[in-house]
Amino acid sequence: MVSVADQSEISQEIERLKAERNAVILAHNYQLPEVQDVADFLGDSLGLSQKAAGTDADVIVFCGVHFMAQTAKLLSPDKTVLMPDPSAGCPLADMITPESLAEFREPYPEAPVVSYVNTTAEVKAGSDICCTSANSVRVVESLEAKRILFTPDANLGEWTQEQLPHKQLILYPGCCNVHVNIRPEMIQDLKHEHPEAVVMVHPECVKDVRDLADVVASTGGMGRFAAASEAQQFIVGTEEGMAYRLAQDNPDKVFYRIQTALCPNMKKTTLPKVVHCLREMTGEITIPPQIAEPARLTVERMVALG
Ligand code: 13P
Ligand code: SF4
Repeated sequence: MVSVADQSEISQEIERLKAERNAVILAHNYQLPEVQDVADFLGDSLGLSQKAAGTDADVIVFCGVHFMAQTAKLLSPDKTVLMPDPSAGCPLADMITPESLAEFREPYPEAPVVSYVNTTAEVKAGSDICCTSANSVRVVESLEAKRILFTPDANLGEWTQEQLPHKQLILYPGCCNVHVNIRPEMIQDLKHEHPEAVVMVHPECVKDVRDLADVVASTGGMGRFAAASEAQQFIVGTEEGMAYRLAQDNPDKVFYRIQTALCPNMKKTTLPKVVHCLREMTGEITIPPQIAEPARLTVERMVALG
């Protein structure tokens, strides 16, 4: 934890380095509060991809996990994309490899593959279109085929299937342990303590948890919902960093977090690491062209849907 005095000194240094490098800082909603505070743009995976595609900065410092920084590089190939801690991975993304994807595809050679953005560039390269938790329904619906392979998050896939009963989704058996460990009892206990609170949960949660929710949404969707809602209290069924973001944006409302829902990889990025990477230009993301080209098409097909 950085002290307030150190934090303000570090923030000034970050501002100076950003100007010197013509850099922009993109941060995911699960980042540490002090990292969220220095970001130029905070968002969910979809919002961050769109921002990466649109920025005219020369350097993108990506505070998130590896697949997110890779996606930024795919969409901004001429920019330098840096990660303050390149070891910040996503165990869900690591549950699928090009080999396991090929095996999964084999019995359904005619079915298109929708892959969650939480995948490596290699897996994206072997998929037809990408999606995030904000647009999985729209992406699946955009495909003509009835039978569609969905990877790697089976909970997001199951929720998407529930919204689109006329499609047949074949689900790859992956999951996010941070979200799967949010149990129905945790939501029920919070509901018992705060009966007025509206329950928002992420689609990576299991069905028993999703069924207790008033709203199932990506982190960006939760932000929009909480801002527009008349409710004053909310239970936030996702990684705990989201509650900080929501409280910053809605100071008159109260957000109850799931204390144990913590993604250790998302917390690897610290302010001193942000300074170091901007100063020394370390943690650069590179993707071999033979992978980047097909992977970019997969992401661009998604971005084109709006
Ligand atoms: P969002 O795109 O909803 O922010 O989710 C990203 C993620 O990694 C969820 O665990
Ligand atoms: Fe990956 Fe889950 Fe962490 Fe999101 S919360 S980055 S899906 S491990």
